[in-house]
Amino acid sequence: IAIFSGSAHPALAEEICAKLGVPLLPTRLKRFSNDCIEVQLQANCREQDVFLIQPLSSPVQDHLVELLLMLDAARGASAARITAVIPFYAYARSDKKDAPRISIGGRLVADLLATAGADRILTMTLHSPQVHGFFSVPVDHLHALGELAQHFQRYDLANGVVVSPDLGNAKSAAAFAKRLGVPMAAGAKERLSDTEVRISMLIGDVRDRDVIVLDDEIVTGGSILELLRHLRDHKARSIRIACTHGILSGSATRRLAAEPDVLEIVCTNTVPIAAEKRVPKLTVLSIA
Ligand code: R5P
Repeated sequence: IAIFSGSAHPALAEEICAKLGVPLLPTRLKRFSNDCIEVQLQANCREQDVFLIQPLSSPVQDHLVELLLMLDAARGASAARITAVIPFYAYARSDKKDAPRISIGGRLVADLLATAGADRILTMTLHSPQVHGFFSVPVDHLHALGELAQHFQRYDLANGVVVSPDLGNAKSAAAFAKRLGVPMAAGAKERLSDTEVRISMLIGDVRDRDVIVLDDEIVTGGSILELLRHLRDHKARSIRIACTHGILSGSATRRLAAEPDVLEIVCTNTVPIAAEKRVPKLTVLSIA
């Protein structure tokens, strides 16, 4: 096999290659004075099983175009099969026409990846699982519930409960709760804008319980902060937070960590986590 990484998350690519015992092959990336990007795969991959590792982390558009160019380069180099390994598929939240004349990025980007040369997609914890149906090529949709469960099993969970901030994520939360052998609860969340959500009620019992909040991603932290209000009102005993994708935009990590009753925030390394976001309460698990 031949594994290449874009510029989004070379540390994860290195980790994956170390686990597989294969070298990470070099890629050259050039940005011209007109702001266009050029990519060159710097190792022969003719007739090989090629894997291109690139989460769509910030800056999403740059990383997307880079991945499209890598796919094009691999196809042009006569690769036998090309898998785009996209641990975080950023456009998954744009999955329906929920307003007039609105774009559906989740589907369009899926089309672009296939057109550019992807024979197969390997991704993790899509915002909603049905997004994999947008792809015309096979998709392996992985999740991180095993890694997250292994982490939380170190705690006494006799009085635990898994809480999903919204009903859309309740199925994953139920699967996670089952792994941990605890009950689950969920919030009824409504998104008001990109940065604002409202949770109207909490379904399930959290009183005097040790809560593990599970979400697919934390972006602004708004969903979790709104959920914390309800958990306090319902007298939860302790609160830990878990998600797959720690996007943690702006001051999300600091805002969450500043909440005195939040004991820990756990995410995985599907996207790189900058040093300034690595507060003491943050644990980053590897999905390599
Ligand atoms: C739902 O809408 C998702 O499952 C996440 O809850 C959401 O993307 C998190 O975003 P934020 O942290 O900005 O509330």
